Amino acid sequence: MKQAERIERELISEETLRGRIKELGREISRDFAGETVILVGLLKGSVVFLADLAREITVPCHMDFMSVTSYGNDTESSGEVRFLKDLDEDINGKNVIIVEDIIDTGYTLREVVKVLGARSPKTIKICTLLNKVSRRLVDIPVHYNGFDVPDEFVIGFGLDYAQKYRNLKYIGVLKISEE
Ligand code: IMP
Ligand code: MG
Repeated sequence: MKQAERIERELISEETLRGRIKELGREISRDFAGETVILVGLLKGSVVFLADLAREITVPCHMDFMSVTSYGNDTESSGEVRFLKDLDEDINGKNVIIVEDIIDTGYTLREVVKVLGARSPKTIKICTLLNKVSRRLVDIPVHYNGFDVPDEFVIGFGLDYAQKYRNLKYIGVLKISEE
């Protein structure tokens, strides 16, 4: 059967995103006063958020990226995580902030935290733009949380459906229907 998709509504506006990201940047800058942080972005969804967040952080800040993917279809994660690209930097003794677009089941971050945690960083924190709390299957400590979102498929501001919609300036809800 053919699938059709459409943006049903705007969930978080560009202005609301900007305001909250400013606050997160201030919070991180305060928590890490006098220190350097490494923002570790998970490709590709976190790129837009990370770019904005980094510019709201006033302490010295490195950026590095990792690519992981979970097996499964377009809208559901399976729990198995595959690592595609590792960090360039050594994080031993460093302050790592993992930057994620959205936490759903928590499987992806559980694996990433396990792998990065084994490299002896000084601190390891999680910063996510969106949090689908009601879908969580494993417990993940979220230190910096942009917005809680309902159990709907969201797109925009880096988040995709089949690689589309990442360039939207707002977060929208996508409806996928069978035709
Ligand atoms: P988790 O491993 O189930 O926590 O899944 C996290 C990943 O699933 C995110 O990094 C996204 O790539 C993807 N994901 C989960 N929910 C959504 C959504 O509503 N829109 C777009 N991507 C999503
Ligand atoms: Mg992702």
